[in-house]
Amino acid sequence: MKKLFILPQLAVCATLAFAGFSAQAADVKGSADAGNGKVWLCIGCHSIPDYRADYPFTYQVPMIGGQNAPYIAAALAAYKKGERKHPTMRSIAASLSDQDMADIAEYYAAQNASSPNNPLK
Ligand code: HEC
Repeated sequence: MKKLFILPQLAVCATLAFAGFSAQAADVKGSADAGNGKVWLCIGCHSIPDYRADYPFTYQVPMIGGQNAPYIAAALAAYKKGERKHPTMRSIAASLSDQDMADIAEYYAAQNASSPNNPLK
């Protein structure tokens, strides 16, 4: 019987932990202008149409201009945490702070076909 009393407490802990995580993520607001100064590292791969980076395997470099900001920020965080495995992206993301990721995400989300370094232009 004792075990049954522990379960609701675990549920409360899990809820609080999740609420804490959400609050922390919401504190970081991205700025496309700030991101503009931080993408110099990305342009060499992500702005070349059909570019393939080929070490140690061949990867098609995905287009991220116009992708939505939360997706980009979440992808970068996943590389940083190691949940996504691509070695180059992992080492690049490891050098980015949460603020950098939010700024870069806003920058790329604001791009469209007429943006200066967008390969669709
Ligand atoms: C050396 C080339 C290279 C550089 C430089 C680079 N990337 Fe990447 N990026 C890739 C490749 C290749 C992938 C696909 C990896 C995979 O399959 O997980 C990728 C994946 C991504 C993704 C996931 C896209 C998706 O559709 O899921 C994001 C977001 C991203 N990169 C952002 C960036 C940002 C921001 C920078 C600069 C800070 C950057 N990358 C620099 C090659 C590069």
